[in-house]
Amino acid sequence: MSPFAGSRIVLAVSGGIAAYKAVEICRRLVDAGAHVVPVLTAAAQRFVGEVTFSALASERARLSLFDDDDPIPHVTLGRQADLILVCPATARVIGAYAAGLADDLLSATLLATRARVVVCPAMHTEMWEHPATQDNLRLLAGRGVIVVPPEEGRLAGGDEGAGRLAAPEPILAAAADALAIGDAASSGDMTGLRVLVTAGGTREPIDPVRFVGNRSSGKQGYAVATEAAVRGAKVTLVATVQRPLPASVDLVLVETAEEMRTAVVDRLPADVVIMAAAVADYRPAAPAAEKIKKTGEARTITLEPTPDILAALGRGTGAGILVGFAAETSDVLANARVKLHAKGADLIVVNDVSAPRAGFDHDTNEVALLDSAGGCTTVPLASKRHVARAILDRVVALRAAR
Ligand code: PMT
Repeated sequence: MSPFAGSRIVLAVSGGIAAYKAVEICRRLVDAGAHVVPVLTAAAQRFVGEVTFSALASERARLSLFDDDDPIPHVTLGRQADLILVCPATARVIGAYAAGLADDLLSATLLATRARVVVCPAMHTEMWEHPATQDNLRLLAGRGVIVVPPEEGRLAGGDEGAGRLAAPEPILAAAADALAIGDAASSGDMTGLRVLVTAGGTREPIDPVRFVGNRSSGKQGYAVATEAAVRGAKVTLVATVQRPLPASVDLVLVETAEEMRTAVVDRLPADVVIMAAAVADYRPAAPAAEKIKKTGEARTITLEPTPDILAALGRGTGAGILVGFAAETSDVLANARVKLHAKGADLIVVNDVSAPRAGFDHDTNEVALLDSAGGCTTVPLASKRHVARAILDRVVALRAAR
């Protein structure tokens, strides 16, 4: 069944060139079974006419606090909504929402709701990177608002850079997750479990501006955290990157392997720990305090091993079911089996990162699940969310067998 079937969504459109993309989002939500009520700011109407939204949505577009038959349209809209999707969200709307200002129908509706809110910023790079915008978004994220970050690409006026509205797929996925959480929390098979997940690649400093890193996007770890939250778990995600996430997930941002180790250990005990992060195995032994100058000479950087977080958890107690990943490019299953035993994990997610459309940065993945009792199941190429589901199915089965 569609995750949107029967849901009531306020599509809050503010005034940027990306407002035209909200038309497609509106159409897709309606096609997927949602009841969509568009709310347009005055500036949004300069980019796309209300008639376009009214024609595609489930109800006519709402434009004003005062020109409605309903004397309190913001309260009615806010109370009836299951979800408010602010798409696109301009810097002004983000600022007003963070500050609690309600000076038009859209901003008043945001304050007059207890529904989940997903915000999709779109603006020029300078505005996106401005500390005011970033601080406002951090504030909103801390209040449980789900932020779908913009992409890099072509902007209004022919400029290129960060700030382009995210593609419809991540926006719709974030909206679906936001709607799903409430439902699954009462019926999910992980209800009440404390789940700790890691995601993204660590960055080990060479000097204040350079680092040793890897290509992990965090997508697989975020998919695991999201799926666990949807199934009712109380999830903490320790990550090196920020991506859309259900409001109920407690996000801890770190950069290095050592910071990740501390963040993970500080949050034990957990019922399940899933280490999807690509933790650097080595780090510069003596990072320079100042930017290393270019001399034209060859330079040698001495690397030392990082702490092995998974192996330490495998030797200790407090991690409940312990799930590691193995990113391999050759002798995949044999190497993964060695890691499973060497690190003391209950389950290893074997990732052949040389396979097409699998592993680092792809939206899809293909894995095998190796458990310490010798069981092995394969998950053919599918979305990372689907792979996350398969991993959690195994985790639930392993817990039941204990
Ligand atoms: O983030 P994406 O772009 O979505 O890509 C997903 C992924 C490819 C990063 C993910 O599927 C994956 O394979 N993650 C593990 C990457 C990795 O570091 O693998 P590894 O074989 O080097 O490490 C084995 C395990 O030990 C991992 O669970 C790792 O988190 C853990 N480890 C490794 C080193 C270290 N110092 N401490 C650790 O805990």
